Amino acid sequence: MAEQALQVAIDGPASAGKSTVAKLVAKKFSYIYVDTGAMYRAVTYWAMTHQVTLTDETAVTQLMQTLTISFKPGEPEQLVFANGEDITAAIRQPDVTNNVSTIAALAKVRSILTEQQREMAAAGGIVMDGRDIGTTVLPDAEVKIFLVASAAERAKRRYTENVKKGINTPLAQLQAEIELRDHKDSTRKVSPLTQAADAVLVDTTPMSIEEVVETIANIIKKQSSAI
Ligand code: DC
Repeated sequence: MAEQALQVAIDGPASAGKSTVAKLVAKKFSYIYVDTGAMYRAVTYWAMTHQVTLTDETAVTQLMQTLTISFKPGEPEQLVFANGEDITAAIRQPDVTNNVSTIAALAKVRSILTEQQREMAAAGGIVMDGRDIGTTVLPDAEVKIFLVASAAERAKRRYTENVKKGINTPLAQLQAEIELRDHKDSTRKVSPLTQAADAVLVDTTPMSIEEVVETIANIIKKQSSAI
């Protein structure tokens, strides 16, 4: 029987390793990978560079009409473009990171990005990571994973990543920022971060990246043979 081209939704809090793992899982199955957090970051960056007030929903959504977000495969991370401009590094800078929750709380922004994400996923063969993929964007996804890790472990991972990029935020500050973002992401009114009822919980705190990829790959294989 031919392999099914499934929709794989990977959700979870900030820095739980979603992008790293999702990208490797996509590669393993020759699926497309879409980092939806990068889309919220791209809108944040675009609004900041166009001097739009981030809480002004109308202005932000108007500005979004002039923005096309696209992706290209890249190492170590997927490349992100705004109207063809490479914004991969810019959207990971602390100023964007600390403002993205404001943009992610705007209902109209979410509905525009959700529509774009559904179009990207329509043909299947996709691994999409974010906060609301299993609950809102792709409620019928065949595979749903909820990836978690302790805040201390996530801060440690983000610290190591940052050092490689020349970003020198202290570890304690990173942990505080992660906890604040967790709180904002899970208490916002629209599409808060929650585990879908049919998602499999994977706690990566004690696991290596390879172990997490293997765990998810096994879930995908089991699901695709059950269809
Ligand atoms: O995964 P990340 O840290 O790059 O995500 C950036 C922000 O975007 C984060 O604060 C949560 C938000 N986000 C969201 O609300 N919904 C998604 N599907 C993906 C990210």
